[in-house]
Amino acid sequence: MTRLVVVSNRVPVPGDRSPAAGGLAIGLADAVTAGSLWFGWSGRRGHTTSTEASVTKHRDITYATIDLAEADYRHFYVGFSNGVLWPLLSYRLGQVNFRRADYAGYRVVNEAFATALRPLLRSDDLIWIHDYQLLAVGHALRTLGAEQRIGFFLHTPFPPPAIFCALPRAAELLEALCACDLVGFHTADYRDAFLQCVSVLLDTPTDADGSFTFRGRRVRAIVDPIGIDVGGFAATAARSVGNATAQRLANSLGGRPLAVSADRLDYAKGLPNRVEALDHLFASHPEHRNHLIFLQIAAPSREELAVYRALRRELDRTVGDINGRYSEADWTPVRYLTRTVGRSTLAAYYRLARLGVVTPLRDGMNLVAKEYIAAQNSADPGVLILSRFAGAAEDLTDALIVNPFDSEEIAEAMHHGLAMPLDERQARHKSLLARIRASFARQFCLTFLAALRSDGAEVPGPKTAPETGTPRRALEARPPRRSDHVAANRAVLAMASGGLPH
Ligand code: ADP
Ligand code: F6P
Repeated sequence: MTRLVVVSNRVPVPGDRSPAAGGLAIGLADAVTAGSLWFGWSGRRGHTTSTEASVTKHRDITYATIDLAEADYRHFYVGFSNGVLWPLLSYRLGQVNFRRADYAGYRVVNEAFATALRPLLRSDDLIWIHDYQLLAVGHALRTLGAEQRIGFFLHTPFPPPAIFCALPRAAELLEALCACDLVGFHTADYRDAFLQCVSVLLDTPTDADGSFTFRGRRVRAIVDPIGIDVGGFAATAARSVGNATAQRLANSLGGRPLAVSADRLDYAKGLPNRVEALDHLFASHPEHRNHLIFLQIAAPSREELAVYRALRRELDRTVGDINGRYSEADWTPVRYLTRTVGRSTLAAYYRLARLGVVTPLRDGMNLVAKEYIAAQNSADPGVLILSRFAGAAEDLTDALIVNPFDSEEIAEAMHHGLAMPLDERQARHKSLLARIRASFARQFCLTFLAALRSDGAEVPGPKTAPETGTPRRALEARPPRRSDHVAANRAVLAMASGGLPH
């Protein structure tokens, strides 16, 4: 049977202490079944970038990784992936810091991935590359003669042409991506923006089904929203809420309501605005003072970049300010943890929280929103407050949808959520649960692999799915509308002087 080869920057090699792959690892856990190969960076930095992968096997899954030279890592990961692509794809032009040497280093590392992977490939492998760090790996593999079907999935947003074309080398990078046979996105907006870029920057017409021909290759762009293992996460939450750690939190609340947020400490996640919302809430609705407890769990991320260190300082200051002004001797409004917590503890904390506050300024999907819903007790569920700029908002319309740039709107949603009667909470939760069950983790993998496998033969990976069962057809494309271009131009005008308001 055909083998699945997953390629991602981070690889969750069992027993390894390098940072976890985050949302990506959660989404792929079901796809990488026995017999698969998972290829990527080892998390180690040394004197040279490996030309050969080091290979280990665990439970019949092969993990192959390469080390990166310190200089390559700095250009590839710090400089171009996170100093240019991440802010660009997150619609934050003001934070883009382009240097030609970083772009060159990015291409060199993408080529190094391909060089080390190529000898491990079999002719009938299905290759699935992930995320913005590896946009040019498909092209590098083709240059080395790989003819296998290659798919690429972008876990981030994709901006419209007016933003994307601000990237020097935008067309070159887009061309490299078009060496893949299939390109997947979380939402129709992001897929359509990509198709607009193909048509504008590569002067290539696209069809209504999301396909186009570039340099003799038929490429297809699909929508395939990532999901979570709903049943598994719900069971974890129900079980671990009785644990000593969760009970310590529950007892410390003293009957007061809890609001929870968990994010990487990233400027795209909208953390300062969220904390400022508490200021508005306590000022305009004093009944929540000495009452609501807000738990922010913020995992430090990408701290090599000054902008991330500055964000942490800003958040430290904002939290300190709120706590200083509103605390009582026996009540502190914000509990602020700058670390990761274990998955079962996180699930239990979600379940204990009356509000889940998920307000990124822009996000590809956002799995925290789905995890919060899955963790709730259906008999007495909490309320999800969700940014309209998270990919998840396309589906989760029964959350309290907010504009994350408007802290006062977030505050009003908190007030509304805290006062919401039980029957409304139950009705909203029922509908949200149905939505996350319809696009659960296995479905994401099944749909992508079925689309990648053009001949319809058996697809490796998950076979059956407890939540529904069969692969959903990848969502059809809609042709770009004129309003998309108008919206894109407006967005660029808004950002021309240094990024969206924070
Ligand atoms: P991203 O991939 O941009 O980090 P997602 O919301 O899609 O954002 O995925 C983040 C994943 O990492 C989720 O599964 C979430 O539970 C987990 N996570 C986020 N913050 C923390 C934290 N502070 N501690 C533990 N897990 C976290
Ligand atoms: O989509 C953003 C993303 O690449 C996720 O796939 C991943 O979970 C997260 O960022 C981790 O980022 P990093 O590899 O920079 O720590």
